[in-house]
Amino acid sequence: MKKLAFLLLVASSSCFAAEPSAEKQAELRTMLKNTCSSCHGVDLKGAIGPALKPETLGSKDDAMLMDTIYNGRKGTMMSSWKASMNKEEIAWLVGILKSGK
Ligand code: HEC
Repeated sequence: MKKLAFLLLVASSSCFAAEPSAEKQAELRTMLKNTCSSCHGVDLKGAIGPALKPETLGSKDDAMLMDTIYNGRKGTMMSSWKASMNKEEIAWLVGILKSGK
């Protein structure tokens, strides 16, 4: 039993982060389209903020991108989104941005 509890703990930590619920995924996709795009451009191709496309994000570090969304970037228009999404949801978002899916 102890072993099982340990496995569950390992499974629920960052490397096997659970995906957000279908409802939250839909909400985040809508947010990308309606909110993030106000700075990152139509279809996230870049405007005030840089393009958020696989071609531009592909080589960038996940942790850095996640930190940018979670904490924002001081001195730029990119603000923190931690009130709208948790780290797990941000990890999922970075995944779909990088894969373009
Ligand atoms: C008010 C304008 C604005 C909004 C809204 C905005 N961003 Fe940004 N974002 C920026 C700017 C400007 C930068 C570039 C900051 C810099 O100069 O380093 C940026 C940078 C980023 C980066 C880093 C890109 C890279 O190549 O390093 C990511 C990822 C990102 N934004 C995601 C998002 C997401 C996801 C949303 C919606 C939840 C969002 N942004 C909403 C303005 C915005």
